[in-house]
Amino acid sequence: MNLSEQHVFDALYARRSIRLYRDQPVEQAKLVRLLQAAMAAPSACNIQPWEFVVVSEPEGMARLREVIPENGHYNAPAAIVVCGCPELIPWDDDDGGADCCAAIENMLIAAVAMGLGSVWIGGFDRGAIRALLDIPAQVVPIGIVYLGYPAEAKEPRTQYLPTAVHWQHYDTARPRDRRPGSLLAGKGARGE
Ligand SMILES: Cc1cc2nc3c(=O)[nH]c(=O)nc-3n(C[C@H](O)[C@H](O)[C@H](O)COP(=O)(O)O)c2cc1C
Repeated sequence: MNLSEQHVFDALYARRSIRLYRDQPVEQAKLVRLLQAAMAAPSACNIQPWEFVVVSEPEGMARLREVIPENGHYNAPAAIVVCGCPELIPWDDDDGGADCCAAIENMLIAAVAMGLGSVWIGGFDRGAIRALLDIPAQVVPIGIVYLGYPAEAKEPRTQYLPTAVHWQHYDTARPRDRRPGSLLAGKGARGE
């Protein structure tokens, strides 16, 4: 592995969901740098159907936490709400979600390289986020990235699983068991 390959894999494996943060704001320049990483993401037809709402003031973060369920009650000092803009997309049934998710992942990886921790928050009520942040009805909040300086450490890792890979053709006989490490309770693929 050459040095830059090593660096990329180090960042990929070091990216973990951080849910405990230091009481220290994220510098504006770092937030802009993260947005530059986001907007380097691939995008269908290069439409770039995304918009970003940055929340970086303590009062704003407190209000954001109030409208997010418990799965987002972490003390991050900043958040970036990534929104899809269907009106930019000339075909039906696409809110830009795939493009936005690519942008989110870019930010999560860039955050590692910048000494920041992050967690992707997907469990929230879109209406509540729209109302709080003045996001219009035709703009779709896709995901929220919490950011800050980490106050917890997690082991770098991949979750490479050979049985999740089909070579050359799909093996229909293979069971799809719940993945090791899944946060769902139970044994089945859906936690049942
Ligand atoms: C689409 C999506 C939504 C997620 N939503 C939440 C969430 O609402 N709250 C949370 O604490 N973590 C959330 N996560 C983080 C996952 O729980 C986490 O990625 C997973 O447990 C693996 O751990 P790791 O990120 O440390 O590798 C979300 C991740 C994804 C990809």
